Amino acid sequence: MLENAPYYHAVGKEIDVFNHAYKNKIPFLLKGPTGTGKSRFVEFMAHQLDKKLITISCHEETSSTDLIGRFIIKGAETVWLDGPLTTAVRDGAIIYLDEVAEARPDVIVAIHSLTDHRRELFIDKLGETVKAHDDFMLVASFNPGYQRGFKELKPSTRQRFIAVSFEYPESQIEIEILVKETKIDHDTAKKLVAIGNKIRNLTELGLTETVSTRLLVNAAKIIHSGHPKRASVHVAVVEPLTDDLQTLVALKDLCDLMI
Ligand SMILES: Nc1ncnc2c1ncn2[C@@H]1O[C@H](COP(=O)(O)OP(=O)(O)OP(=O)(O)O)[C@@H](O)[C@H]1O
Ligand SMILES: [Mg+2]
Repeated sequence: MLENAPYYHAVGKEIDVFNHAYKNKIPFLLKGPTGTGKSRFVEFMAHQLDKKLITISCHEETSSTDLIGRFIIKGAETVWLDGPLTTAVRDGAIIYLDEVAEARPDVIVAIHSLTDHRRELFIDKLGETVKAHDDFMLVASFNPGYQRGFKELKPSTRQRFIAVSFEYPESQIEIEILVKETKIDHDTAKKLVAIGNKIRNLTELGLTETVSTRLLVNAAKIIHSGHPKRASVHVAVVEPLTDDLQTLVALKDLCDLMI
């Protein structure tokens, strides 16, 4: 293993699957709710494979021009500037399109020829087709859970990828993540994970998304740095979940009993 690897604890077979996808030049799609380790996993894999990672956080304004490149004016000349996708395609980096479903439709069009057997990028502004470097890999994430502003990926896009679902880890693994990530004691980590699981099971709350590992990590961090435990859970776990007053009170009471 290389030095300074990002810490990532596998929750299933995702490391093997990613390695096989990479070897076979098949793009990789991570599905799952917020805070389940998707970005961390991609950082970890890029480090393991010793490849440069270029991450793009897609949003509704993200266009193919942002990814592929544009002409810019430099003095009296216009010069072409490769965008991050073109750079990755030429140099053989791993590109991670975070929340790819949010991007404008022309982004999806642009990646189609890259994500099938052609592995090439068409740069319409240059009239040039770039063959992907042998080491190039496209990785994307999308969160199928959003209820509002929910965007789907077309089957013709989805079916180009090897896809893995990321979920909340089982208790033993999540406890270990909290301990390793924040140096908190095992007993407190165990209680935080119990709180997480308890709230996750309260499906009647109708939360858009429930307690993520990220929230538990944040609680563990501020407890470890000296903030009182109950107050930490209130601000790091409960408040980020909801704005509904009744739910806030109920969840805080519940957590107070568990930490
Ligand atoms: N399997 C894991 N191993 C190590 N750390 C993890 C793992 N899962 C979650 N974490 C912790 O949770 C935090 C959030 O993870 P990450 O940023 O990768 O989530 P994400 O799935 O990319 O979320 P989003 O969809 O919001 O981008 C990490 O910073 C890390 O502390
Ligand atoms: Mg992420």
